[in-house]
Amino acid sequence: MAGDLDRHTMERAYARWAPIYDAVCGPIFESGRRAATDAAKRAGRRILELGVGTGLSFQDYGPDHEVYGIDLSEPMVARARDRMASGAFPHVKDVQVMDAHDLAFPDGMFDAITAQFVITLVERPERVLDECARVLKPGGEIILVNHLYSEKGLAAAVERWFSKHAHAFGLRPEFPFHRLEAWAANHGGMEVVERRRVALFGVYTLVRFRKRTVADAAPQVFAATG
Ligand SMILES: C[S@@+](CC[C@H](N)C(=O)[O-])C[C@H]1O[C@@H](n2cnc3c(N)ncnc32)[C@H](O)[C@@H]1O
Repeated sequence: MAGDLDRHTMERAYARWAPIYDAVCGPIFESGRRAATDAAKRAGRRILELGVGTGLSFQDYGPDHEVYGIDLSEPMVARARDRMASGAFPHVKDVQVMDAHDLAFPDGMFDAITAQFVITLVERPERVLDECARVLKPGGEIILVNHLYSEKGLAAAVERWFSKHAHAFGLRPEFPFHRLEAWAANHGGMEVVERRRVALFGVYTLVRFRKRTVADAAPQVFAATG
């Protein structure tokens, strides 16, 4: 798709963001991040965060969860590791520099995968979602939170203008929901189970996908009546 971001732009952008990220983005993203981590906690014990950033979400989890994080940016991961080293987050098991397009985890490892403010930034979102579906257990969930493209009206016009300038900052404001919906429809093993606005003025959208189980695919047998 025209306008997709490449890996080097992203690495350069987040090397610049890393020292100021918590102060600038922490408060802006907090409500969206909390909505995603709440959903992930309901989905199961073992959770992977894609694009974990500086680890702002570590405080949202507790001893009932095992959290793994990956991120493309070394400076962002270094900050997440500093957070882990404080000893305050024993539920965070590992944080690694890794590209979400190629996850070095075995099939079916996680109950939930969250990506807060990440899927609109990756070069090939459908490839990243395929990888998530692979490392997810049957019945598990992918939870995304983002600002998604308005598609019509004044907001859409402003976003189209802004998108021309935004990529150098590691931002892509022109990402529509229908791209996520189309991925699930084509994947077969995944379904969209929730789409809702979150945060002040509904500025972010939370999308949950569920991985189908063998039981979901089995034909339904109904008892004969009468
Ligand atoms: C807007 S920040 C969000 C960080 C964190 N999720 C939060 O809510 O604070 C986006 C993060 O995605 C990471 N990222 C971008 N592309 C990535 C990729 N292909 N694989 C892994 N991480 C990626 C960036 O390095 C950055 O840390």
